Amino acid sequence: FQYRCLVFPPVNFTLTVSALAQVLLQWKPNPNQEQKNYTIRYDVKILSPVPEEYDTEKTHSIQTAALHNGFSAHVRTLLLHNDLQIRSDWVKEKLPPPPGAPETSVTNLSCVTRISISSTVSLHCTWLPGQEAPEDTKYFLFYRYEMYTEECQDYIKDKWNRNTECRFSVTHIDPEEVDNLIVIHINGSSKYAAIKPFQRLFNQNAIEKVNVPRNVTVFLEQNDLLVTWEKPISPFPKECFEYEFYLFNLKSGNKQILKIPTNDFRLRIDVTSRYSIQIRANHHICCTRGFWSDWSEIIYVGQNKLENSTVWILSVLCVSTCCMFLLVAVMCKTNHIRSKLFPPIPTPSNKFRDPFPNNYERARTCTSETETEFGSFAEDLYCSALDDSVF
Ligand SMILES: *[C@@H]1O[C@H](CO)[C@@H](O)[C@H](O)[C@H]1NC(C)=O
Ligand SMILES: *[C@@H]1O[C@H](CO)[C@@H](O)[C@H](O)[C@H]1NC(C)=O
Ligand SMILES: *[C@@H]1O[C@H](CO)[C@@H](O)[C@H](O)[C@H]1NC(C)=O
Ligand SMILES: *[C@@H]1O[C@H](CO)[C@@H](O)[C@H](O)[C@H]1NC(C)=O
Repeated sequence: FQYRCLVFPPVNFTLTVSALAQVLLQWKPNPNQEQKNYTIRYDVKILSPVPEEYDTEKTHSIQTAALHNGFSAHVRTLLLHNDLQIRSDWVKEKLPPPPGAPETSVTNLSCVTRISISSTVSLHCTWLPGQEAPEDTKYFLFYRYEMYTEECQDYIKDKWNRNTECRFSVTHIDPEEVDNLIVIHINGSSKYAAIKPFQRLFNQNAIEKVNVPRNVTVFLEQNDLLVTWEKPISPFPKECFEYEFYLFNLKSGNKQILKIPTNDFRLRIDVTSRYSIQIRANHHICCTRGFWSDWSEIIYVGQNKLENSTVWILSVLCVSTCCMFLLVAVMCKTNHIRSKLFPPIPTPSNKFRDPFPNNYERARTCTSETETEFGSFAEDLYCSALDDSVF
C-alpha cells in the first residue's frame, strides 16, 4: 500500500506516576514521519488494569487507575488522509506492580461519604489487614480528590494495634460535583515484610450515605393519609431525589414499601388501624445512586396509638405520684420521729436508725394499695410542716 511505509510508530513512549492512582502517558511523533497535508492522530490502548481504547491528536494522555497491580498500555500512529486510515505498529510500555509480599495488602476496603449541613464532605473508610500481613503491620491511608492528596490523621485500630479504619471529618471533596472519583491509597510498613500497597477508585456519589429526609409531616384527611417531607441536606435540587415510603399496619401486620419520586404522598388507609410510617431517601437521575439514607423517625397515625398512649401516660402519672407520696412520707416520718425523740438538736448518728423497717413496709403497700393510704401520708406531711414551723 502506497501510504503504509509513510506511517511510523511514535517514539519515546513513557509512563509516569503523576499522582496517586494517576499515570501520565507521553510520546513523541516519529522524526521520520513526514509533515504533509494528512492528519496524524494516535491510538491509545490501555491493557491493564482496566482495558480501554481511544485516539487523540495530542502526544500525551492522563489516566486514573488503581496501580497496585501495575499498568500496561500501547500507542500507535494513525494517519488519516481523505477516507483512508493507516496505522503504524504498536509501541508498548508497562509499569510494574509496586513491591510487596503477597497477601499483605489490605482487603475488603469500603468507604462512605456524608454531606454535613455546612456542605462539607466527611469520609470514613474501613478495611481488613491482609491475611499474610505481620502483626506489627502499620497501614497508612491517603485519599486523592482531583489534585489534592491528604493522609489520614484519625485512625481506629484493631486489637493488634493495626489501623483498620480512618475518618476525615472534613475533606476537599466537592459535594456539588457529579460522578467525580475519590482515590484511596493504602500502603503499610512492617519489620518483617514489605507491605503491598492497595488502591481503589470510588465514584463520590456512589459511596455517599444520603441524609435522612427532613420535617416529615402527616395529616389524616377523612380516609386519606397525607404525608409531606423536605429533601435531605444536599446541594442537589429536590428533583434529584427519590424516596421509599414504609407503611406498617400494626393491626393487620401488613407491610408496604412504596417508591415515591416526589416530596408528598396521599394514600387511602383503613382508619380503624394504627400505622407506623418511615421514609428514606436516595439520589438518582442527577448522579449515580448512593447508599439509601437511614429511615426517618417512626411516626404513628391512627386510633389505637392514641388510646394506648393515654393509658401509658396515665400509668406513668400514677406510678410517679405514688413514688412522690412515698418519698414525702419517708421524709415526714423521719422528721416526725426524730423531732419527738430529740426535740432540740438531733445527732446525725441516730438519724436513720429507727425509721427504716417502717419505711420498707410503706414501700410495699404503696405500689399495690389504694388512695386511703395516700391520705395518711398527706396527714404526716401536714403534721411535719406544723412541727417544722413550731421549732
Ligand atoms: C497541502 O495543503 C496546501 C495548503 O492547504 C495546498 O496548497 C497543497 O496543494 C496541499 N498539498 C497536497 C499534496 O495536498
Ligand atoms: C471480605 O470480602 C470477601 C470477598 O469479597 C468476603 O467473602 C468476606 O466475607 C469479607 N469479609 C468480611 C469480614 O467482611
Ligand atoms: C505510602 O504512600 C505515600 C504516598 O504515595 C508515600 O509518601 C509513603 O512514603 C508511602 N509509605 C510507605 C511506608 O510506603
Ligand atoms: C423544618 O421545620 C422547622 C421547624 O418547623 C423549620 O425551622 C425548618 O426550616 C424546616 N426545615 C426545612 C428544611 O424546611
